[in-house]
Amino acid sequence: MNQPNRPSSQRPPSRPREVTQYPSVSYRRRKAPAIAGALIYAVLFLLVILICLMVIVQSRREQREEEEATDTRYVSSTTVLPPDSGTGNAAIDSSAPDQPSETVAPPVNEDPDFIGPPSAIRKAPRVDISVANTQISAGNLILINYEHPYVFPESQPQTLLYGNKSPAYMLSRADISLNKELFPVFDGFLSDFASATGCKEVLVTSGYRTFDFQKNLYESRVKSQGEEMAKLYVAQPGYSEHHAGLAIDMVIFAGGQQYYFPDYEEAAWIVQNAPRYGFILRYTESNQVITHCAPEPWHYRYVGAPHAELITAMNISFEEYHDYLRTFTWDGTRLLIAEDGTVSETDGLDLPDSGYMVYHVPALEGESTAVPVPPDSKYEISGDNRNGFIVTVQLHT
Ligand code: DAL
Ligand code: ZN
Repeated sequence: MNQPNRPSSQRPPSRPREVTQYPSVSYRRRKAPAIAGALIYAVLFLLVILICLMVIVQSRREQREEEEATDTRYVSSTTVLPPDSGTGNAAIDSSAPDQPSETVAPPVNEDPDFIGPPSAIRKAPRVDISVANTQISAGNLILINYEHPYVFPESQPQTLLYGNKSPAYMLSRADISLNKELFPVFDGFLSDFASATGCKEVLVTSGYRTFDFQKNLYESRVKSQGEEMAKLYVAQPGYSEHHAGLAIDMVIFAGGQQYYFPDYEEAAWIVQNAPRYGFILRYTESNQVITHCAPEPWHYRYVGAPHAELITAMNISFEEYHDYLRTFTWDGTRLLIAEDGTVSETDGLDLPDSGYMVYHVPALEGESTAVPVPPDSKYEISGDNRNGFIVTVQLHT
């Protein structure tokens, strides 16, 4: 059956056109921000986790480093060999130099039988100076006597007194010279003497001597006075302090006569003040048994400050002074010499701000020795002409 055509007006109203595009478009617009948001949350979450992990790792690392540092300090304070132990080696360079003074607290241990380190270990700050062992035989404090010969260096600068000295004293020969470093001190010493007393009658009769000069001197004395007398008054060639240019023979020459200092009134100033300028009267009646030399009121030896004044005040020979200094070491006690000459001992901590600190450093095996000195200090290192070095630190603020 044919269905009647329905008039167009009776057509059911066309269904509203479905706008199929819009929902999908609007759907996509809503979904994208949601994904982005979720991603941001995820990233933030991961970041937070990461930061937490980093904090934990860092704190663990710090804890571990702290534990290791404590262990190291214990080890270094108990096992590092000091340079002057005689058994140590240059390994001291790697651990000790420039270490500031420190206090190390030991770990707590409740066990009553536990024997731990002392409650606090403090180490004096130090810098190691590498000194060639050939320098054992150089410096103002070298001991030269009948059993310690002088080791002649390749070059040994001397100053000729003639043409360089002040007019305050005289020379018995034009070729007398002295160790270059000591000349200004000596010249000042006799200039001050002339200014203080008006006396310009000091006659310098000997200074630096070569091996051959000493040999001729010794042999001619043997000829004139015999071997026994020669040995008392003239050192064997190679064994004289004059070889180093650190010894001076001098007398007073007045009215055509020679006088030893104790026999000439004005010369009392020289005897009294020589130590202030770094000179000691080397051979005396009381030390003859040690020096093996007869008393020589004319022979002065330069040793420098503060040693000359201390040796004179202690009234001991240079040999005994060397033995005394050898008892002071960097790691043991060190000698303190105050401005007024009083002596005391120190462990190197809490130093005074004036005076001197002195100690002996035995040489290490090999070519050089690490000589410890306080950082930023003014110091002098002299060989002892035996087996090591003597360090003189000038203390200051
Ligand atoms: N008169 C001293 C001992 C010397 O010859 O060095
Ligand atoms: Zn002499």
